[in-house]
Amino acid sequence: MQKFVVTGGTALRGEVRIAGAKNAVLKLMAAAALTDAPVTLTNVPKISDVTILRETMTDLGFHVRRVNGDTLTISAGAPEWLFVPLEAAMKMRASFMLLGPLLTRFGRVIIPNPGGDRIGRRPVDLHVMAMEAMGAEIEYRNGYYFATAPNGLHGATVAFPQVTVMGTENTLLAATLARGTTVIQNAAQEPEVDDLIALLRAMGAQIERTAPDRLEIQGVPQLSGAEHRVIGDRLEAETFAIGAAVTGGEISLTGVDAGHMGAFLDVLERMGVPHRTDVDGALTVGSAGSYAPVDVETAPYPGFATDFGAPLVVLMTQADGVSSIHETIYEDRLEYTAELMKMGAVIEVLDERRARVAGPVDLHGREVQIADLRAGATLILAALAANETSIISGVEHVDRGYEQVESKLVALGAQIHRIDA
Ligand code: UD1
Repeated sequence: MQKFVVTGGTALRGEVRIAGAKNAVLKLMAAAALTDAPVTLTNVPKISDVTILRETMTDLGFHVRRVNGDTLTISAGAPEWLFVPLEAAMKMRASFMLLGPLLTRFGRVIIPNPGGDRIGRRPVDLHVMAMEAMGAEIEYRNGYYFATAPNGLHGATVAFPQVTVMGTENTLLAATLARGTTVIQNAAQEPEVDDLIALLRAMGAQIERTAPDRLEIQGVPQLSGAEHRVIGDRLEAETFAIGAAVTGGEISLTGVDAGHMGAFLDVLERMGVPHRTDVDGALTVGSAGSYAPVDVETAPYPGFATDFGAPLVVLMTQADGVSSIHETIYEDRLEYTAELMKMGAVIEVLDERRARVAGPVDLHGREVQIADLRAGATLILAALAANETSIISGVEHVDRGYEQVESKLVALGAQIHRIDA
């Protein structure tokens, strides 16, 4: 078990290169299972979720090699097993992304009910519904889904009753090799979904976004290999942006498309956090003496990302008045508020989805515990804004999605280091 020791109070200044997006790369890796030809991904972040999926794909008999630093080459020849181990699924919900590709290419797979962050119920019923609509037979027994499609999958109209990012992506992956046309209605619009579509097209898939929330896929008999660069991680970028604002600093972010951060930049605008996009595409976020309070509701893209509700609350503690956050996607995503309150935040939790945050307050160094990935970013930000030393446990949650978070912060002037505990 490791911990972060963070002494706050230093303004973060400088430039930081944002890594490839966690929520894109895991699906791009799964897409490589659709073909026996090599798929090469560049700008792959060094995060533990990539390692877990890499090990899982290797267990299946696929070859996954990190070539140099940020390049990964995947050759998914004949698998030894069509069985995804429980261990991978318990560590990471994105392991379920192997359902669509393995089922559509090989006609069967046994895959466990996934784990991942402990936020809300997070079922996979919509993934299962989509595969069944495409002709799969799926039985759930003893924690595993036994999925078969002996004659392959066929095209179907899949109308999601609510927006699901991975549900959309799994359906997309399955539809690329299905017979006929698949239409996905109420499809997710996240930039990471479009990054997956870009790779699939480069592999020869026929996919059109015929309306912002409608995808049409014409199945093809087989896909080829391709090379693809993973988009920058908008959530990592937003974390550093808040770091600049809450510490009174200024950070330039490169390697990320500010166009993917519209709803977040709108909130910065409303709060009075200075920011600009330079001609070379770098996004610079600064700080001001005081910030205006805001009311924010999370929503599917292009709305304000649910993953960013928690880190934004740290900025809300520094605003001049009462802000509010309404989490519309998950229930039970406000657990981190208890840890923030230990550090001096004044938060009234109205119910399991809504909270009011009063500011400005001085945050204090405390011993706190990270419960999930985004709560990790939140507590680090709060510790950087506090005027004392904090000890943060549960570091492994942060390593799932942030590449070298402490060295990037140290380069910006932060006092943070990792200890074995
Ligand atoms: C992805 C992101 C996660 C982000 C989330 C919402 C990855 C690896 N993870 O997760 O960081 O927080 O999108 O932006 O990309 N639901 C069902 N049944 C299903 C699937 C989902 O009821 O079969 C519900 C979920 O419980 C949730 C909502 O739909 O309430 C949205 O979930 P979804 O978009 O599917 O999240 P993920 O794709 O798992």
